[in-house]
Amino acid sequence: TVPEEAVAPLLGWYGANKRSLPWRDNPTPYRVWISEIMLQQTRVEAVKPYYRRFMAELPDVESLAAVDDDRLMKLWEGLGYYSRARNLKKAARLVVDEYGGVFPHSRGELLKLPGVGDYTAGAVASIAMNLPEPAVDGNVLRVVSRLTGSREDIAKPQTKQAFSDALRKIYPPGRCGDFTQALMELGATVCLPNGEPMCLVCPWRGLCVACREGSTDEIPVKAAK
Ligand code: ADE
Repeated sequence: TVPEEAVAPLLGWYGANKRSLPWRDNPTPYRVWISEIMLQQTRVEAVKPYYRRFMAELPDVESLAAVDDDRLMKLWEGLGYYSRARNLKKAARLVVDEYGGVFPHSRGELLKLPGVGDYTAGAVASIAMNLPEPAVDGNVLRVVSRLTGSREDIAKPQTKQAFSDALRKIYPPGRCGDFTQALMELGATVCLPNGEPMCLVCPWRGLCVACREGSTDEIPVKAAK
């Protein structure tokens, strides 16, 4: 389980320390979806200029559904994993044709869109729709493992599922998007991998099992494949 006492300090810290990122302004389902797909295999700093250019040219799901394939590939060139771009257009056509241009407001329906998996569905549902749906990426696996002292293998799907179930129970009504982004932000800027977590400035110091045990260098556990 994840202690409910972890929520308020994390939200307070996030409010004071969040980075200003282009997709954090006006977090509509379309904008959050595009950003999360780009961020899945590409670093934040590299994504920024691509994201700005993409939004300038294709500001809404209708423009993406209608874009020329050549134009789309030019916008994606350099990001790699081009199936992501092809899936984006397919999903946009589905949203326009089947949902009248409005993203479906449930995790289950979002999962039907090409290229949208558990993580992206959770991110869009929580960040853009304020639903209590966790989005568990590598950062979130690390911060939750350390907070709870979990030595479960983070490469196992059951671990991700267990963390997701535990987080869902403590999602703060009205702040679901901030909570998802705060978990990611903590992992990206404070609770860093191997060796260098900045526990002195962490909102969870005092609450975190790994910090207390001095085991941040052993947790998370990722079994060799
Ligand atoms: N990495 C993945 N999603 C992110 C987000 N919404 N903000 C910052 N980094 C991210």
